[in-house]
Amino acid sequence: MKLIGPFKQIVTLANLPLRGKLSDEQIDIVVDGGIVVNDGTIQEIGNFETLKYENQNINIETIEGQQIVLPGLVDSHTHICFGGNRANDFAMRNAGKTYLEIAESGGGIWSSVQHTRSASEEELLKTLLERINFLIALGITTIEVKSGYGLDVENELKMLRIIKKAQGQTEAKLVPTCLSAHLKPRDFEGSNQEYLEYILTEILPKVKEEELATRVDIFIEKSAFQPEESKDFLLKTKDLGFDITVHADQFTPGSSRIAVEVGAKSADHLEATIDEDIDFLAKSDTVATALPGASLGLGEKFTPARKLLDAGAIVAIASDWNPGSAPMGNLIIQASILATFEKLTTAEVLAGMTFRAAYALGLEDIGKLEAGKKADFVTFKTDNFQNVLYNQGSLKAENVYINGNQVH
Ligand code: NIG
Ligand code: FE
Repeated sequence: MKLIGPFKQIVTLANLPLRGKLSDEQIDIVVDGGIVVNDGTIQEIGNFETLKYENQNINIETIEGQQIVLPGLVDSHTHICFGGNRANDFAMRNAGKTYLEIAESGGGIWSSVQHTRSASEEELLKTLLERINFLIALGITTIEVKSGYGLDVENELKMLRIIKKAQGQTEAKLVPTCLSAHLKPRDFEGSNQEYLEYILTEILPKVKEEELATRVDIFIEKSAFQPEESKDFLLKTKDLGFDITVHADQFTPGSSRIAVEVGAKSADHLEATIDEDIDFLAKSDTVATALPGASLGLGEKFTPARKLLDAGAIVAIASDWNPGSAPMGNLIIQASILATFEKLTTAEVLAGMTFRAAYALGLEDIGKLEAGKKADFVTFKTDNFQNVLYNQGSLKAENVYINGNQVH
């Protein structure tokens, strides 16, 4: 057992609701606080001096200078296991080509598939761990990681096995997701439907057998999979026992509706979601995940996070870090920018990067700082937590703790 502190402010987020809009007055802050950690779990949070007095012989990890604490951030949507890079796509888009045009001409996702297939396992593991360390240094303690650049049995399993291997070499908590339905690969002989059937019969049983992932994702879009075939596929993956998440409404509306209808944990992107579907999402338990990094990478509009929150949706914010649409990977910069364009309160942004994102991943033991939750948290050297978003990413995380251990 140990006591960590004193902290100028502990932003617990403990009493905030799961859904809907939030005002900053609702944020709970423990001033001059301490955190008692027992076996990786938070035992108590309160005034540092009081906790010290009440726990006479406790080990103390003293914090120097003025620091504030937030719950460890949760990045609930990434594609950080990949080979190669797509700087040329970025340049082509800025020179006037669209994301879909580049995809149709054989660039885009397909080009990352070729690079990922030809990369060695050592190289993929090394770059994945480097990206994980970059995220930990931002204060991110839980990271979802998708496959989706393998697109056949051998290479999808290769990706998922590498993600599993990475879990053995990092303190960050990884949540793997099978995204074999990212795109029908160019070398697959058959229709979209046949490819989806191939995923169901050839890939997912092995994913299950080797316990590589419990979640399945699909990209529903004109250039990828169509709404009806996707719905059928998702219902079958559900029957196999997988949780579902969907790349929805990125360029064309309609697919967030399918995500809700099949009971997906989250519908991510939503840049093109129409008002009617905002209400549909808001009445559901499907988390609406904004991916501002993709809007910034593509020069597309932002997810209508303000409208979604006002309608009562559960809104998460994730980085979508990938080599194509979202190459930056800095969730704090992206979320701060989303806040200024969508007019989101600090409470809404912090909730979106913590317990609301955790809910999208089905994780209940992280995302808030309160007794019983895991001791995952990030500190910043400042006396006021508002400075984190105000500095738009230039205020770096000071210390990062996972299960009560300092990892950064
Ligand atoms: O979330 N939209 C589909 N998938 C990714 C992009 C992947 C890529 O371009 O490599 C996304 O934006
Ligand atoms: Fe994505």
